This record gives sequence, C-alpha cells and structure tokens, in this order.
Amino acid sequence: MNDQVLINEVGPRDGLQNQPVTVSCDDKLRLIAALADAGLRAIEATSFVSPKAVPQMADADALYPRLPQAGHIAYSALVPNLRGLERARVAGVKEIAVVLSATDTMNRRNINMSLGEALAASSETIGGALGLGMRAKAYIAVAFECPFEGPVAPAGVLGLAEAMFKAGAAEVVIADTIGAAAPRAVASMFKECVARFGAGRLSAHFHDTRGFALANAWAALEQGIRKFDASLGGLGGCPFAPGAAGNAATEDLVLMFEQCGLATGIDLQKLRQAVVLAGQLVQRPIGGRTAAWLDAQDERRARGNDGAPSETDRKNK
Ligand code: COA
Ligand code: ZN
Repeated sequence: MNDQVLINEVGPRDGLQNQPVTVSCDDKLRLIAALADAGLRAIEATSFVSPKAVPQMADADALYPRLPQAGHIAYSALVPNLRGLERARVAGVKEIAVVLSATDTMNRRNINMSLGEALAASSETIGGALGLGMRAKAYIAVAFECPFEGPVAPAGVLGLAEAMFKAGAAEVVIADTIGAAAPRAVASMFKECVARFGAGRLSAHFHDTRGFALANAWAALEQGIRKFDASLGGLGGCPFAPGAAGNAATEDLVLMFEQCGLATGIDLQKLRQAVVLAGQLVQRPIGGRTAAWLDAQDERRARGNDGAPSETDRKNK
C-alpha cells in the first residue's frame, strides 16, 4: 500500500463560502497561514465566481496575491468561466478548479448553465488555463446523488470525467456534494474510475451529512485513491445544494489515516489550533470528532491518568 496521502484543504473556499458571518480578508489569511503552518501542502484558497452568487468570496482578487508563500504549498482556486479565469490570471493563480455538476438541474442552480453549457464552459476554462500555463482540475459535483434529480448514474459521471480529461484536466475530483454516498457505492464508483483513468489522476471529496465521510474516504482509499479534499473543523456546504452539510473534517481524516500508518505530513496539534481559530472566525462551534478527543487526552494527561472521568468525558456523555 502506498503510504502517503495528500489532503487538499478546501476550508477557505468550500468551508467559508456558505457561512452567514462575513470573514474578513485578513482573517482568511490568518486561517490559511495557520493551515500552512500545520503542514497542509494543498489549499483551495478561494473562488473567482460572481460576488453576487457568493458574497463571501468577493475578496478573491485581494486575497490571492497575499497568500503566505512557502515552498511546500500548492494553492488553487475555483474558477467557473473565462471571466473568472481572467481575474485568476491577474491574481497570480497557478492552479484552477472548474466545477461541473453531474446533472442538468444542479448546473443550472449552481452556475446558471445547462449540463451541456456547463460542459462547454468548463472545457473552455480548462483550455484557457492551460494556455496560460496553469494546472487545471475538474470537480464532478453531485456525483452520487443530486438534491434535485436524485440518484446519479455512475456511467454519466465517468463520461463527464472522461470529457474533463480530454479537455486537459490534470485531475478529476469525484465529489459527493450533499453527503449522500455510502461506502459500497463509493467503492464501486472509484473502482470503475481507477480502472479507466488511473488512481493518480483522481481525488475524492466527501461531505459528512450522514456521518459517512470517513467510511467513504476509506472506501476510496481501498480503491487506490490517495488524494482527498477535506475542510478543517468539517466546515462547509454548498449554498446552491440544499442539504449539503459540512465537509469531511480535515483533522478527522488526518487522525484516521495516521492511525492506519498512512502519512499525511500534517501536524495534528497545529491543525487543532487552526480549527480553534476557524471556530472563532465563523462564530459558532465547529469541529469533527478529533478536537474533543484530543481535549480529553490533554485533560487525562493533566490529571496524571488517575482514571476519573474528565470534564470532557462528562460533557460527551
Ligand atoms: N467573477 C466575477 N463576476 C462574474 C463572473 C466571475 N467569474 N462571471 C460572471 N460575472 C458577472 C458578470 O460580469 C455579470 O456582471 P454584471 O451583472 O455586473 O454585468 C454578472 O456576473 C452576470 O454574468 P453572467 O455571465 O450572466 O453570469 P450568471 O448570472 O449566469 O452567473 C456564474 C454565472 C457562473 C458567474 C455564477 O452563477 C457563479 O458565480 N456561480 C458560482 C457558484 C459557486 O461558487 N458555487 C459554489 C461552488 S460549487
Ligand atoms: Zn463540497
């Protein structure tokens, strides 16, 4: 088993885009700096979309040039069209992601295009990005189930992934946007995708709406997938996909992978501090399961392992 896993942190984009509290550009940069310090090597920093559609991302042009630079980090940004690509070019973006939804209705709700138009716009945007020397990847959103059209046929997803590779995408991210996938369906989808495209060009994006995100990630891992999107504190959700709860929490994925002998290169204690900061910025309690568990460990250590239930143990009962 290849024992390295790459986590692409999408908290600053997927995590924040839906938050009711406006997070300032300076605060986003603080958060990204904390993530960089924790050892994240891939961070989706923002999106160059219509500020009317997603007001929280309206500061992308100002934010991107100020991102903390460190040799180990590759930043990316979501770009839906050529207008966004031009903004991304000016801001210095080196890697973009387009979002193509697997169903017609979801494309209309998300980017105001039919499936056919979205396919054309995504292909055109990828082509434009390659022409500018950028790397491009493509999300296939609602790849398992659409909040409007219901279950999605895997054959359609494979066809769209194929089209994105043909358009020049270096990577395709299979996304369970509303957290409706179950591990067996995930295994079967990735088995087919890996057979057709190779595991190295694929990545997985899960939401934890029903608590299946970790199980789904494991199912994808078993099919050879080693790249996963995640969002610190499980922040996230798509404003245009009803029912989309938070993403797989980065700290939970890191803990699971590390405990299974897979290296993420991420410092869990530092990531924990970034999660605390994120909670302060969005002004509500967030967090996967790991934070409470680490708190309990700390308390136990502080008590000298006397075996008595801790404050956190009691709270979690
Ligand atoms: N960045 C900034 N502004 C943009 C833009 C972009 N990438 N693309 C279009 N616009 C502007 C246009 O200039 C126009 O501005 P105006 O009203 O001041 O003239 C306005 O947005 C409408 O443009 P139009 O091409 O008609 O777009 P639309 O209204 O059909 O919206 C998208 C299409 C793709 C721009 C919009 O739906 C969008 O940004 N969606 C993003 C959704 C998203 O981020 N979802 C979450 C991630 S999955
Ligand atoms: Zn998502």
